[in-house]
Amino acid sequence: MAQKEQWGTRIGLVLAMAGNAVGLGNFLRFPVQAAQNGGGTFMIPYFISFLLLGVPLMWIEWGVGRYGGTHGHGTVPGMFDVLTDRKKKWAKYLGILGVVMPLIVFIYYTYVASWMLGFSFFSLTGKYFGSGDAQAKADHVRTFLANYQNIGESAAVAGWMPVAFFAATMVFLGWILARGISGGIEKLALYGVPLLFVLAIILVVRILTMDPVAASPSEGLNFIWNPDWSSLGRSGVWIAAAGQMFFTLSIGMGSIQTYASYLREKDDVTLTGLSTAATNEFAEVVLGGTIAIPAAVTFFGVAGATAIAQGGSFDLGIVAMGSVFQGFPAAELWGFLWFFLLFIAGITSCVALASPTISFLQEEVGFTRKKAAGAVTMLGIGLGFFHVVFLQRGVLDEWDYWAGTFGLVVFAAIEIVLFAWIFGINRGWDELHKGADLKIAAIYKPIMKWVTPVFLFGMLGWWGYTEALPKLMMAGVEEADMPYLWLARLLMLSMAAVGIVLIKRSWNRKGLER
Ligand code: ALA
Repeated sequence: MAQKEQWGTRIGLVLAMAGNAVGLGNFLRFPVQAAQNGGGTFMIPYFISFLLLGVPLMWIEWGVGRYGGTHGHGTVPGMFDVLTDRKKKWAKYLGILGVVMPLIVFIYYTYVASWMLGFSFFSLTGKYFGSGDAQAKADHVRTFLANYQNIGESAAVAGWMPVAFFAATMVFLGWILARGISGGIEKLALYGVPLLFVLAIILVVRILTMDPVAASPSEGLNFIWNPDWSSLGRSGVWIAAAGQMFFTLSIGMGSIQTYASYLREKDDVTLTGLSTAATNEFAEVVLGGTIAIPAAVTFFGVAGATAIAQGGSFDLGIVAMGSVFQGFPAAELWGFLWFFLLFIAGITSCVALASPTISFLQEEVGFTRKKAAGAVTMLGIGLGFFHVVFLQRGVLDEWDYWAGTFGLVVFAAIEIVLFAWIFGINRGWDELHKGADLKIAAIYKPIMKWVTPVFLFGMLGWWGYTEALPKLMMAGVEEADMPYLWLARLLMLSMAAVGIVLIKRSWNRKGLER
């Protein structure tokens, strides 16, 4: 087997892992979740989820990735196989989730990231700018966005635009991915992640010093952080907080494991893993919590911002922010900074999401890195057009739910059983501490063995019953959309089936199947 690639520098690794975690979830998803789920009180289930799910799973995923990497495996199927000492045949097949799910998220996430590139450009040209009061401006941006997104439904204004920005984003990603771990992904992170933080800090300062329009910036902060204690009794708030934790830290996806597989056996995972989690939380809570919602409240007032936040992340990030900046001198520049920040946050996560498939194609199918990067790019373009054309049918949301929300918890539940129970918590603990720069607090041993699994299985049961089951039965879906959603599901299942066949073939060929 060819020598496995490695990270060039430790700072490069930390930035790449931070780039993996810090994404659209931090700047768009988090503020909406916090505002909709109790404001300041949301932070209580959020931090409990951080301590009991986020941190332990982060360590486990770094440890599993490094362990797999030292046994020649860069993706979860092989990692799950070695966690069972190659004794449980089923483990590697379940591991396909850690390849197919990030691939699916990659496909729609890249499409969304390409909108940010498009809106960076339209900010500079002032294309979505309108006139009139705040509401009129917002209506104008909303119509522009709808036209941009609806090319499958109508011959909308300049239908080529989303196609062009999507294709440009894909080609750029393909180029970075083909350059490899240290030459492509690490370089992107070395420039991209610091730039992302600088842009975010500039925007925070600008938003906090905004002239009051419908409210003041401090009212905006108050709106997002004002505690609503009654929300703590609602199970939906706890599920939302835990779900956000998975998405934002990129846990339960398979991408951390692949990045960690490029570590050496004695490279630290405890301190580095914790530092990247902490970096993500700073970007999310401090920066992500201080931009979009406070800006929307200052510009539209509390009632206007509430209505916008209820419309979801894109209404907030694109419609509201696209309107807010129009009130600033040099509006074109501010709009550009915001959307470009989102674009960078997006693409540094995209390369991580594509990595498991690339590694899988290299190791289990025998592709070169360039060929694997080309294949993922083509797959992303081919299937991504499904979103470009059928966005209004709910295909993106369907994929996001199964592969980017519920599926993450399913995957993490399997992973923790394999790590803490089958591999064994004592062996796992020693494995995590190889070359460690930080001794993990002893309390985390019972947490990993008992508390996190109970939390995960409890979530699965409750969430599965109240939400996933009705969703599976397509409750509330319009009849006309159903064939599209079935097709979306069929595509996901087909990818998993192809993966399973490839695993079987590869294990037979390598003589690993006993
Ligand atoms: N962790 C990435 C995000 O927050 C996927 O967007």
